[in-house]
Amino acid sequence: MRVLGIETSCDETGIALYDTDKGLLADALYSQIAVHSEYGGVVPELASRDHVRKTLPLIEEVLNKAGLAKTDLDAIAYTSGPGLIGALMVGAAVGRSMAYALGIPAVGVHHMEGHLLAPMLEDNPPAFPFVALLVSGGHTQLVKVEGIGRYELLGESLDDAAGEAFDKAAKMMDLDYPGGPHIARIAERGTKGRFTFPRPMTDRPGLDFSFSGLKTFTLNTVTEHAEANGLPSDQTCADIALAFQEAVVATLVIKCRRALKQTGYKRLVIAGGVSANKSLREQLEAQLAKINASVFYARKEFCTDNGAMIAYAGAQRLLAGETADLAINVTPRWPM
Ligand code: KG4
Ligand code: ZN
Repeated sequence: MRVLGIETSCDETGIALYDTDKGLLADALYSQIAVHSEYGGVVPELASRDHVRKTLPLIEEVLNKAGLAKTDLDAIAYTSGPGLIGALMVGAAVGRSMAYALGIPAVGVHHMEGHLLAPMLEDNPPAFPFVALLVSGGHTQLVKVEGIGRYELLGESLDDAAGEAFDKAAKMMDLDYPGGPHIARIAERGTKGRFTFPRPMTDRPGLDFSFSGLKTFTLNTVTEHAEANGLPSDQTCADIALAFQEAVVATLVIKCRRALKQTGYKRLVIAGGVSANKSLREQLEAQLAKINASVFYARKEFCTDNGAMIAYAGAQRLLAGETADLAINVTPRWPM
């Protein structure tokens, strides 16, 4: 079965073609980062308009890359939530209508299920069951995963998501949106040990997270060291970025170890934009090796939003017999 995947939940138009026998055939991504960067965050209306412009040309590009025609498609999967309503509507309307015209089934996919299953596209995919840490711009969740669609929420952020905290910390130091990769980049030249930031909620039991206190701590440190231009020196920014990243990573690692202990599982999947973070990957690999557990993640371009994860998750849903009716439905707020 050849499934076309369409992702338009936020500021990336992601299209891919997944074959249940042959694997991923082709994919393409258009990022709107340049459109939103001057606003310091995603502007929903601009996002929808850009998806309108890009979705069909990208579908054409992916079909050409795979050497296939529309009539070779067996089904279409699109992100139906959670996300920005207008942006979701574009992918859902295009996907649902195209499937109707071709006379093939369509299926709506949960964006976070897409992220969660993205590591399945890699050469050494994790076997079920596992614990998943979902860390994106909108979510920070620990999930017990027993199989496709068999998810149990173990813990989540009570306030900001991990990616959101990275973005806000970056903004405080006048770094571009999305801030995660910029924080990671400048942290590389940070001075180890100059600052130590709090590890929120690690001193009490449980698997929930909170990043707003860390955000305030970061803002206070930035303000305290600000120079005439209102910003700390480049070196101090790098030192703050390092301390901030260390605190987020240490907090995530502690909770992941706790979740593995609680479930008795030996496999951890990390997914979502923040799972691209090199320090998080390295720390988890080092810490989990000590307890004979292993960590799985997608290649970097499939950690952030992409069409491949939607094509894959959609294929699994279709194999399980799920299809969308003719109404074009999206769910901007949708617990997994
Ligand atoms: O999954 P994603 O692409 O979109 C959402 O569904 O939210 O995640 C985007 C988030 C942003 O907050 C971005 O700053 C963060 O992932 N991110 C990173 C890194 N790359 C992306 N955070 C830390 N380190 C990175 N290397
Ligand atoms: Zn995402």
